[in-house]
Amino acid sequence: MGTHLGMPSVAGRTAASGLLDTHGRQATDMRLSLTDKCNLRCTYCMPAEGLNWLQKDAVLSRAEIVRLVRIGVDLLGIRELRLTGGEPLVRADLLDIIRDIRANHPVLPISMTTNALGLERRAAQLKEAGLSRINVSMDSLHPETFAQLTRRPFLDRVLRGIEAAAAAGLGLIKINAVLMRGINDHEAPDLVEWAVARGFELRFIEQMPLDADHGWTKEGMVTAAEMRALVETRFVLTPDPRTRDGAPAERWEVRSKEAPDVVLGTIGIIASVTEPFCADCRRTRVTAEGRIMSCLFSREETDLRDLLRSDADDDAVAERWRDAMWLKPKAHGMDHTGLGAADFVQPDRSMSAIGG
Ligand code: GTP
Ligand code: 5AD
Ligand code: SF4
Repeated sequence: MGTHLGMPSVAGRTAASGLLDTHGRQATDMRLSLTDKCNLRCTYCMPAEGLNWLQKDAVLSRAEIVRLVRIGVDLLGIRELRLTGGEPLVRADLLDIIRDIRANHPVLPISMTTNALGLERRAAQLKEAGLSRINVSMDSLHPETFAQLTRRPFLDRVLRGIEAAAAAGLGLIKINAVLMRGINDHEAPDLVEWAVARGFELRFIEQMPLDADHGWTKEGMVTAAEMRALVETRFVLTPDPRTRDGAPAERWEVRSKEAPDVVLGTIGIIASVTEPFCADCRRTRVTAEGRIMSCLFSREETDLRDLLRSDADDDAVAERWRDAMWLKPKAHGMDHTGLGAADFVQPDRSMSAIGG
């Protein structure tokens, strides 16, 4: 690998050079899916009937996960870890996995993207196991709208989970809200008010074509520009002076119209489609069955599980991972979708089968 005709030279790419790609980016943020299962059915992600879940032995084991993280950190320059799903909380050995990773890597930031169902009971244990912080998916403060979007009537449980996480010290808590036209977009200012009052960082996310139902249309999607306008019906937004540092979210300081001197909090807007941030991407993804996806929209996947289940040593695993990332595409091409644009093809996987 890496010597394909027409590809930039691999000179300079050594065993010590980390997860570089041909466009000069280095992945230092590892996003690891612990399961493809989820207990919600968000319409922008999963079909009502769920998906065909992976068999138990198809999913990476606790020991395989802990080893992969160690290879990432010790051999490939990974500097932060995000646990994703499906829903990571449905994994029975989640606490053990976090404890093991934490024992190997005392200062590694370990965060988790979760829907917060069941978090109420486990927040304190997660903190104690070594989890640094969480991002919670929550799109609505109205029980009916929440149930419409997730196809489950569990808003109360999610809110209690978030409260428990805050009490356990799993902050800074970020709240992910995908805005859907005519469903929850009118809630944008209420969601901001709720989040800043509690010290959470709310992030509005443009819906991406990663739904299993293939119902996404560019016209139907609420754009980042519209999101800002919706928030500005009640608040004043000014660009956050802190550097963005490769993060998907563009951050904005929130002030009230009545007292514009006081910063109430910060929100982020994730404009994956209309203002893509691929040029600064630092993410490498591992699916629950141990495949590397160099991009959320990769149609190529590189299996590491067969190596992990052979007698291959750590260097061999690192080498295959490095090769997979070397070919990371320059950009996702979603911004070119629309009539006549043929260069974007929706991946076969839904968000739940990739990990956010
Ligand atoms: P931090 O907690 O600030 O690190 O944010 P994060 O963006 O890593 O968090 P999270 O996993 O919650 O991601 C939020 C949303 O950003 C996801 O739901 C996606 O919609 C989007 N996102 C994350 N990574 C990528 C990416 O590599 N490409 C694109 N297009 N969108 C992404
Ligand atoms: N577009 C944008 N964000 C999505 N998520 C799931 N599916 C999509 C999509 N099609 C978000 C969820 C969750 C994170 C893991 O991914 O809201 O916060
Ligand atoms: Fe589950 Fe997250 Fe997909 Fe919703 S977005 S169905 S919470 S994996």
